Amino acid sequence: GSLQMFVDELPQMPSLLGYSNGPTSPKPGSLTIGMYRKKWKFHRNLPATTVFAFGTSEDAATVPGPTIEAIKGVPTLVTWQNKLPQTHILPWDSSIPTAIPKKGGVPTVVHLHGGVHESQHDGHPLAWFTSGFKETGSTWSKSTYTYPNVQHSGNLWYHDHTIGLTRVNLLAGLIAAYIIRDPTLDASLNLPSGAEFDRTLIIFDRSFNTDGSLYMNFTGTVPAIHPQWQPEYFGHAIIVNGKAWPFMKVQKRKYRFRITNASNARYLQLSLSKGLSFTQVGSDASYLPAPVQMASILLAPSEIADVIIDFSTSTATEIVMNNNAVYPFPSGNPVDNLNSKVMKFIIVPKNPTIPDSSRIPASLVSYKASTTDTATKRRYIVLYEYTTPSGSSTHLYINGKRYEDPVTETPKSGSTEIWEVINLTNDNHPLHIHLATFQAIKVQSISNPTQFTSCMAQKNDAVACNVASYLTPPSTGNGVPANEMTWKNTVKMAPATQTTVVVKFNLVETNSLWPFDATTTPGYVYHCHILDHEDNAMIRPLQLV
Ligand code: C2O
Ligand code: CU
Repeated sequence: GSLQMFVDELPQMPSLLGYSNGPTSPKPGSLTIGMYRKKWKFHRNLPATTVFAFGTSEDAATVPGPTIEAIKGVPTLVTWQNKLPQTHILPWDSSIPTAIPKKGGVPTVVHLHGGVHESQHDGHPLAWFTSGFKETGSTWSKSTYTYPNVQHSGNLWYHDHTIGLTRVNLLAGLIAAYIIRDPTLDASLNLPSGAEFDRTLIIFDRSFNTDGSLYMNFTGTVPAIHPQWQPEYFGHAIIVNGKAWPFMKVQKRKYRFRITNASNARYLQLSLSKGLSFTQVGSDASYLPAPVQMASILLAPSEIADVIIDFSTSTATEIVMNNNAVYPFPSGNPVDNLNSKVMKFIIVPKNPTIPDSSRIPASLVSYKASTTDTATKRRYIVLYEYTTPSGSSTHLYINGKRYEDPVTETPKSGSTEIWEVINLTNDNHPLHIHLATFQAIKVQSISNPTQFTSCMAQKNDAVACNVASYLTPPSTGNGVPANEMTWKNTVKMAPATQTTVVVKFNLVETNSLWPFDATTTPGYVYHCHILDHEDNAMIRPLQLV
């Protein structure tokens, strides 16, 4: 049977201050956050689900976990603790590169997505550890991570990043928000603020068994090769802040919503009923130069939209947030009655008690422009089905290389590069590059991707395959949507396209706040943020020099 929608109230996840209040200005803050197995109610009529959850204690742990509140330029130190049991609550696949502790336990390591910090603090996939640090992965070195928060203010999130287990550890619940605020900038922008009117929405899809346990198809598509691994996880219930299709009571005024798509593989095409629209002010961890009016917003896994919704402009009493993205995206199944609904806003009829003094300024923040002038290197990053020379198996790799193959991306610390990302597959892939911020500046279509792919299969070199002869520039503009023209942490790569991306390897303009060495080992990674792809194995090492 299916669950009734809009019967659970939208929770506000607990917030943790990542700073302490000094006499004149905020001082660095220290947090200890554990990962626990516990029961979580996703819906009032569904038995409690066993999950893995972040929290300062088992009782306090939530799905998603607590939101960390940081301040620009004030470091946050987090000691991550693994309190998980001996065995996983979900099936995993030992045939892909995976952390397999000899003494049992569930390996975890936490990555701050969008963070600018040294690589020993990055949650490297091999820096995993089990409960009580009984066992650690080959690149593990620290139990306390320092996040300098030197970049501009914006929306980040933290999640597990263990090699081969990221898809199951996030499915189990190891997901949470992290906000860097800039008090001076926030005051000047005067967007809706405060815990009541500035809200975080973390959205993901899940399916459940009738006993409440998480449902995951664990029969591999090619059982002889991968007994468990599936190319994409899709669930039928849409969960927001840990509740299936919740409702939220709102006043007739403006609200700010920081919306993260934390699904494994599901894209979300979000829209509002009754003609209401979003005013988008930010994308990932950056503001847009000016607000963009959006009737609907497409979010790939790990993308974040920072939006304003003005409920005072509607005469309706209820507004539904819908999803209309096919899955897999962009050529999969249409949404059904369940996964086409996200949540409901119930508008309180009376006028707000406190007048809404927030506003949406005509212009927001202009960062350094995404110029190609200073770029020192052009790289081709090709996403395609790689067939092994013996022809025995095909893999969705990056540049036809496995994760464990020697590092090929070695940018200079502080440099800017151009990455030509070529997607020859039928799926859209969200590309995420650790440490860097990046911006798409041009999307060109690729004619005859099949022919290009067979050339790649022989030469594995985009230039040798004469990529230029396959490209068609966009008919108007640069092919990049206005709501994505800023410094991002994830960029969607559409099928049969080459996306030109300007990549900045750490925000050099912030180095005066906290100079750090980005060249140390174990280095960083870049990968597809469809978690099932990332695990097998659209992921490559990234070593700054
Ligand atoms: Cu959001 Cu490498 O991860
Ligand atoms: Cu992918």
